[in-house]
Amino acid sequence: MIRKCLFPVAGYGTRFLPATKSMPKEMLPVVNKPLVQYGVEEAMEAGMTNCAFVTGRGKRAIADHFDISYELEHQIAGSNKESLLTSIRDVIDRGTFTMVRQREMLGLGHAILTGESLIGPEAFGVVLSDDLCLNEEGPGVLAQMAELYRQFRCSIVAVQEVPESEIHKYGVIAGEAMKDGLYRVDRMVEKPDAADAPSNLAIIGRYILTPDIFDILRETPPGANGEVQITDALQAQARAGCVMAYRFKGQRFDCGSIPGFVEATNHVYHHVYGRD
Ligand code: G1P
Repeated sequence: MIRKCLFPVAGYGTRFLPATKSMPKEMLPVVNKPLVQYGVEEAMEAGMTNCAFVTGRGKRAIADHFDISYELEHQIAGSNKESLLTSIRDVIDRGTFTMVRQREMLGLGHAILTGESLIGPEAFGVVLSDDLCLNEEGPGVLAQMAELYRQFRCSIVAVQEVPESEIHKYGVIAGEAMKDGLYRVDRMVEKPDAADAPSNLAIIGRYILTPDIFDILRETPPGANGEVQITDALQAQARAGCVMAYRFKGQRFDCGSIPGFVEATNHVYHHVYGRD
């Protein structure tokens, strides 16, 4: 059973300036819920109630969001607005929330390594809150991956087919197809040119990692963009046959980009809130 999930939330969110000038990008609401809360709810549905945030300067709103707001709750107690706090109260009651600060932005791999003290020697989930994943037909993406972890006991990355024009934005895998959208990964490359990409299967922001990843990350030199890449560390595990890629069931919205964010907002408004 995987109990812990890591949320790297130290990034600047420059694509959403000026909205993100003094507010964490992870707090941008899709309709009325912050992006990071969608991620936390997905992790909790998968049984990962221990949420570990790798934060940075200017990210205190995230810690406050996952804590009681005594004044606010006192103010609206007994009014018809009280129900609006139900979802976050439920999350707060079920979970524990720990934080560590990443002092320098040296890449996703570095962010994950910074979270080691909150995770320890056990397998854990990783959620990149920019990627909003929804599955209205069944279990969420992390829950689907946790089920696979129970069977395979190795690191798992979520993948999606993307058009050639988008491939350079992602980590891309090559592997042997096994069954039902499952691949054993033999190669992975961070942000390749479309011409060099090993496939059109792009990694999206959901991972299950075995804890040996921390020792590998300690030895991983900076890669694409001069940053320590989780993809490069995973490549070392893949060489030993220990990484699976999973074409998940559900939809993923790239909320790190304005078009993806707008699409997610429309989707949630129509499908989740049932509005026209
Ligand atoms: C990160 C990862 C990349 C992955 C992507 C998914 O990149 O490095 O492998 O495909 O998330 O969203 P970033 O979007 O932080 O540049």
